[in-house]
Amino acid sequence: MQTDPLWYKDAIIYQTHVKSFKDSNADGYGDFRGLIEGLDYIQQLGATCVWLLPFYPSPLRDDGYDISSYESINPTYGTIEDFQSFLDAAHERGLKVITELVINHTSDQHPWFQRARRAPKDSKERAWYVWSDDPNKYQGTRIIFVDTETSNWTWDPIAQQFFWHRFFSHQPDLNFDNPDVLEAVKNVMRFWLKMGVDGLRLDAIPYLIERDGTNCENLPETHEVLKNLRSALDAEYQNRIFLAEANQWPPDVRPYFGDSDECHMAFHFPVMPRMYMALRKEDRTPIVEIMRQTPEIPNDCQWAIFLRNHDELTLEMVTDEERDYMYKEYARDMRMRINVGIRRRLAPLMDNGRRQIEIMNALLMSMPGTPIIYYGDEIGMGDNVYLGDRNGVRTPMQWSTDRNAGFSEADSAALYSPPVVDPPYGFQGINVTAQERTSTSLLRWMRRLIAVRREFKAFGRGTWEPLHPDNRRVLVFLRRYKDELILCVNNLSRFAQYVELDLREFQGMVPVELYSKNGFPPIGELPYLLTMGPHNFLWFRLMPPEQAKQYVGQRS
Ligand code: BGC
Repeated sequence: MQTDPLWYKDAIIYQTHVKSFKDSNADGYGDFRGLIEGLDYIQQLGATCVWLLPFYPSPLRDDGYDISSYESINPTYGTIEDFQSFLDAAHERGLKVITELVINHTSDQHPWFQRARRAPKDSKERAWYVWSDDPNKYQGTRIIFVDTETSNWTWDPIAQQFFWHRFFSHQPDLNFDNPDVLEAVKNVMRFWLKMGVDGLRLDAIPYLIERDGTNCENLPETHEVLKNLRSALDAEYQNRIFLAEANQWPPDVRPYFGDSDECHMAFHFPVMPRMYMALRKEDRTPIVEIMRQTPEIPNDCQWAIFLRNHDELTLEMVTDEERDYMYKEYARDMRMRINVGIRRRLAPLMDNGRRQIEIMNALLMSMPGTPIIYYGDEIGMGDNVYLGDRNGVRTPMQWSTDRNAGFSEADSAALYSPPVVDPPYGFQGINVTAQERTSTSLLRWMRRLIAVRREFKAFGRGTWEPLHPDNRRVLVFLRRYKDELILCVNNLSRFAQYVELDLREFQGMVPVELYSKNGFPPIGELPYLLTMGPHNFLWFRLMPPEQAKQYVGQRS
């Protein structure tokens, strides 16, 4: 089958860690063989693409984002052949695969760093990383992991110099001013693309280049590096994509799309916390406001929308006041906070409220972009705030009530992480098997939601046009693509609301509700009145009366 070059626009991405998904050899760690077994589940959910967190050899001090060898597999997860089998199995099912290209930094155990620190000062080999005799260089640069690091420089007793790191002090930043580094990184990229990987998430790309007198983020030279990588991608491969991780304000993210010559996709970081904020405030303003500040992007580019991921719910892209609000509402317990954010999963953030979880997922599936589901959130998994770092949201997938949540047959003590056990999120209650059995379960509801979304290209490719009804507790927008016209109405409030919509532009058309296929009364001259239950959402297709005939008056 021909691949549509814009496949990523219609994708539903499922994000998981090999380690956390399924353990096939009872050693306590998930692996590629286990992941292959889990592919049916991912496919049944309706996902079309799997994004895997780093699975390369690593001391695992940053869950694999500290890579010590770029072109192999952490033996705990399997072999390169296992990875190839996984890739083939995914492709056989029509699933795409996105992996991580972590190029801003390596582990300090990487042979490149080991060579650099021992090479003479000012030598070619030393220059693979960023060094200085003066730890006051690049003063204007913020520290990202404020909980653990006090400086972006760390003294290396072997090199007798300081090395630069934007993240942990065991993760030295590569020096992209060195053309050898760029070439080496391109070869890493080719290695995985040649195996058949469909997309690469470019980790932490705003920080590739450093310059005096700047904040060392989003520099023009950084964009040159990305253009260089993209031109190699386009010249040598077809239908492969870059997904940018640039946790920045919308105007600063926009350049990462370039003129369609940098990344195909980029996460929309600022809208993420604002969906939570809008829900708790019962006011659409935070979402509408950030979308107003979101620049247009080239036609073949796409936002990636997410509710939660493997990191903390980052609050870097909000104002101080908004951050205080988020902490107060969603992380009263200090243990829930880390760095500038909140380390919790979706269900606990929603206090396990089913309606709240549903409306957040409805937003995930209807906001403009490609949705990313974080493994376990589709069954409402909880977290464990007693684990260190961000590990509380990285616990084993909960498959069943069997030992170790059906994740592994190892001794419980051998697991990479304990599964969540306490009610209401413990695996005895929350697991795939139980939810398969119940037609009202969150899992089965998620499958239906995704199936409805996949019927219409407008969700992935259409416009996003907010309406401005008086009732600000209701968020209303249109998604328009070719002859598809979808109206999404979201009641952010915990109470029933009515909303009057100015739909005069569509007079005569019939709103057909997408789940039930029920035709609603045609749109007339007067404001269109809808009554919404608490946290209720409705998706309609607006259809000309002739086409809607089959849906009208069928059910009473
Ligand atoms: C990843 C984090 C990681 C950091 C440093 C981020 O972009 O999402 O999980 O800790 O990079 O490697």
